[in-house]
Amino acid sequence: MPKGRYSRLPPRKTSSSTLIMGMLLMFTFVILILLGLGILSIPTNSEDSRKANDLSTIIHNQVGRSAGDEGKREQWVEVISWEPRAFIYHKFLTKDECEYLITLAKPHMQKSTVVDSETGKSKDSRVRTSSGTFLQRGRDKIIRDIENRIADFTFIPVEHGEGLQILHYEVGQRYEPHYDYFMDDFNTRNGGQRIATVLMYLSDVEEGGETVFPTAKGNFTAVPWWNELSECGKEGLSVKPKMGDALLFWSMKPDASLDPSSLHGGCPVIRGNKWSSTKWMHINEYKV
Ligand SMILES: *[C@@H]1O[C@H](CO)[C@@H](O)[C@H](O)[C@H]1NC(C)=O
Repeated sequence: MPKGRYSRLPPRKTSSSTLIMGMLLMFTFVILILLGLGILSIPTNSEDSRKANDLSTIIHNQVGRSAGDEGKREQWVEVISWEPRAFIYHKFLTKDECEYLITLAKPHMQKSTVVDSETGKSKDSRVRTSSGTFLQRGRDKIIRDIENRIADFTFIPVEHGEGLQILHYEVGQRYEPHYDYFMDDFNTRNGGQRIATVLMYLSDVEEGGETVFPTAKGNFTAVPWWNELSECGKEGLSVKPKMGDALLFWSMKPDASLDPSSLHGGCPVIRGNKWSSTKWMHINEYKV
C-alpha cells in the first residue's frame, strides 16, 4: 500500500531541507519559464531586438503595420515635450482625408470667435483672426474613422469629443496664446473640463503658422527644425504645420489639475495658407 506509506509520513519530515528543496524546484521552474519566454521572443523580433527598450520604435512599428490600405505611409509618434505633455503623430491623416475635411468645411467658413467666459456665447475677437466652422461628430464614415483614430491615440472615448473644428488662416492671420481649458462654470457644464486637444494640420504652410507653446519647459532651441521657424515660432517650443500630422497636447496634468504650460498660440502665416482641424476632448461625455 504505497499510498498509505506516503500519507503516514510523520510531520517532522517536513523539515527545513524539504522546504528548501521545494523552493529550489519552484525557482528552477520560474527560471525555465523565463528562459522559455526569452527563447520564444528571439526569433520573432531578431531584427530590432537591439532596440527592445526603445518605446518610440515600438510605436513606430506597431502603427506602421496597421496602416491598412495606403499601406506604405510611414507613421510614427514623437514626444516633443513633457511640460506640456505634447506629442506629434506623423501622417495621422491621409492627403485625401485632409482634402475631404477642407472641401466639407469651405462653404461654411465664418469669421472665428472666442468663447465669452461670462455668457458662454461666442464673440468676435481680435486675438483670433482666422475663419472656421464645426463639423458634427460622427456625421459620416470618414469623420467617424478619424474620430475613432483620435480616441485610440488619446485613450479618450469618442463620446468625450466636441465636433471637429476646421480653421483657415490666411497670410497675417493668427491666434494669440491662450489655454484650451475653461476658467468658468458655464463652459464646463457639457462634458466638464477640456482635458486634451488634438490639432491636425490639413495643409503645409510655406512660412509661419507654427503652433507655439511659449511657456514650455526645456531647451526649445534644440528642436531640429529651429532654423526654419518664424520669429514668432522662436518664442517657444514650436511645431511646424505639415499636412496630415496631428499634434496632441494635454491641458490637464495626470493628477487632473490644470496645466498652465499648455499655453499655446498660432503664429501668423507669413507665406501660404493654413488649414487645420481641432478636436477638443473633455473629461466626461460631451453631448452633441
Ligand atoms: C540648447 O540647445 C542648443 C542646441 O542643441 C544648444 O546649443 C544650447 O547650448 C542649449 N542651451 C542650454 C541652456 O542647454
